[in-house]
Amino acid sequence: MTQDELKKAVARAALDYIAPRLDSDSVIGVGTGSTANFFIDLLADIRNEFDGAVASSDATAERLKGHGIPVYDLNSVSELEFYVDGADETNEHLELIKGGGGALTREKIVAAVAKTFICIADESKLVGTLGTFPLPVEVIPMARSHVGREIVRLGGDPVYREGFTTDNGNIILDIHNMDISRPIQVEEKLNQIVGVVTNGLFARRPADLLLLGTSSGVKSIP
Ligand code: 5RP
Repeated sequence: MTQDELKKAVARAALDYIAPRLDSDSVIGVGTGSTANFFIDLLADIRNEFDGAVASSDATAERLKGHGIPVYDLNSVSELEFYVDGADETNEHLELIKGGGGALTREKIVAAVAKTFICIADESKLVGTLGTFPLPVEVIPMARSHVGREIVRLGGDPVYREGFTTDNGNIILDIHNMDISRPIQVEEKLNQIVGVVTNGLFARRPADLLLLGTSSGVKSIP
């Protein structure tokens, strides 16, 4: 199977998981990226079976609206049963690196609110230790150099993501060569640097369920 076929298979598995658990009042948190896009396109088929969605990026909001799915501001939603999103890397504890698409902050906010975070990913994303994929950090623009120096002190190599502005008007530094053998500690240390909005480690709040697309079918972890 191609990587896209694996992504479609996990998007389908996520839909099959949530569909029987939805009612007409349900609002679904929806992530960002190519795997999430496959999920959004499938969600359109059952759009009359739930109320609407909260989007983790402007791009996702546009895609949802394009399918006629109402998009709500998170502040107007009292309860979010599910958040469905992809990842750049996951380990066996469902700790993730996210933010390859630069939407990490809104993704982390929606994941924090959701009762159940379902991560959908193809098998290439499963790693033993996080960190081969450069770790994105969203930074207030005026703090770029300061944050970069602090990241070097922590042992990472920050690279400015040229020509990219987040939906929140900030910049991204991608950290290469960082030791992420203790993800929770790294997540906390990075978030303590003044000028950091947040980083793409989802370790303090990992996924609850990983649907992993493999050549022998979709595996559900745990
Ligand atoms: C966007 C993300 C995405 O979930 C991540 O980049 C995975 O993307 P894709 O499904 O296209 O491989 O965190 O900020």
